[in-house]
Amino acid sequence: MSKPKFQTPTGMHDILPQDQAYYEKIMETSKKVFSFYDFEKIDTPILEDSNLFIRSVGSNTDIVEKELFTLKTKGKDVLSLRPEGTAGVARSYIEHGFVSLPQPVRLWYMGPFFRYEKPQAGRFRQFYQLGTEIMGEKDPIVDAQTILVMYAMLHDLGLKNLMIRINSIGDDNCRPLYRKALVKFLREKSSSLCADCKKRIKTNPLRVLDCKNEKCQEVLSQAPQSVDYLCEECKKQLKDVLEYLDELKLPYCLDSKLVRGLDYYTKTVFEIEAEKDGVRSGALAGGGRYDNLVKMLGGGDIPACGAAIGIERVISQMKEIGAKVSFPTVPEIFFAQIGPLAKKKSLPILEELRRANIRVGEGFGKDSLKGQLGKASRLGAKVVIILGQREALNNMILVRNMQTAKQVEVKQEDIIKEVKNILKEK
Ligand code: HAM
Repeated sequence: MSKPKFQTPTGMHDILPQDQAYYEKIMETSKKVFSFYDFEKIDTPILEDSNLFIRSVGSNTDIVEKELFTLKTKGKDVLSLRPEGTAGVARSYIEHGFVSLPQPVRLWYMGPFFRYEKPQAGRFRQFYQLGTEIMGEKDPIVDAQTILVMYAMLHDLGLKNLMIRINSIGDDNCRPLYRKALVKFLREKSSSLCADCKKRIKTNPLRVLDCKNEKCQEVLSQAPQSVDYLCEECKKQLKDVLEYLDELKLPYCLDSKLVRGLDYYTKTVFEIEAEKDGVRSGALAGGGRYDNLVKMLGGGDIPACGAAIGIERVISQMKEIGAKVSFPTVPEIFFAQIGPLAKKKSLPILEELRRANIRVGEGFGKDSLKGQLGKASRLGAKVVIILGQREALNNMILVRNMQTAKQVEVKQEDIIKEVKNILKEK
């Protein structure tokens, strides 16, 4: 078969009907978890001023340097498709004066995000995230709660062998010291590092730590660790978060190389993966604290913490373990019609059944009774109602119980009563 002329753009995909049940299950689960923890939903535009992302995510990150989809409008505004959700939520918090609400403000969102990445397993150019942001609170219990909410979501979706990887990258007070020590180390080893890492020593040395190149990884095993450079405040924050995780008995490990790919983080950073027999799924969720972002965007001094789940990656895990999702419910009854008059009269009858909350399948495109009954049995309908030319003329309708093969003729006005009686029978 020749390739169709038009296909989805590289790294983007259709969400086909057979996958909708996974999205619905994720939405249903998230609504339960988020409403328990008192999060309110927020939707922000898919396009924002490019500078919002450059400022918040950071000009020397891959996301901004290589992955923004940017366009110029007819009015000459430079906008980018959002690569992540935190920047837009922080912008909205400032723009709508959320600072005057009781703090912290707890928000959640779900929607498509865009990064011009090299497409590979679990990495798309359009993907969906479900995120939370708790804004206006610096207490480490909020960091632990963010991790807990992400973990609870993944757990309630049926995912197993989850592992939280956690680190602290310090704050403005202690990170410069760490950065200095790291740069010194990286300069000494620079001849053994890949070209990208060599460049990053200058532009974004922390990002060198999560280079996937094996040779770099070998060198980096000796690199100084951020936790050894934390100031007292950051040390206490990390200790408290870990104690909360201990209380919750959540599985975690300290990962000194976890730095995350966005510049706005301070103190706690974390990711959650599924790990089985040493095989890691890649991050299903990631987040952390970002105490400087709101200020950087022109708002007040608002400490905050948040995280996001990557929905495609979660669905791939759900499929792998055969997680239960409820597929669309089958119709309880099937409506067959024969002849032009019956067809004309069928839409109002169908509407009456819908208003009575009866799930109905129909075969409007098929004119033969045989074809329609074939569809009814494929759908597993318990009752078939048949409107022929004669019944249409007499305001009658045939009702066939598919389990007993009994068929009766009833007045059209009695159809709901008759169908409900049969559906009630076991
Ligand atoms: P992130 O780690 O860049 O964080 O993305 C969160 C999750 O989105 C990842 O763990 C991954 O599951 C998924 N993800 C990211 N990029 C892709 C991609 N190209 N294709 C498929 N899935 C992807 C953030 O975006 C932060 N805004 C999270 C946050 C909220 N931090 C604080 N608040």
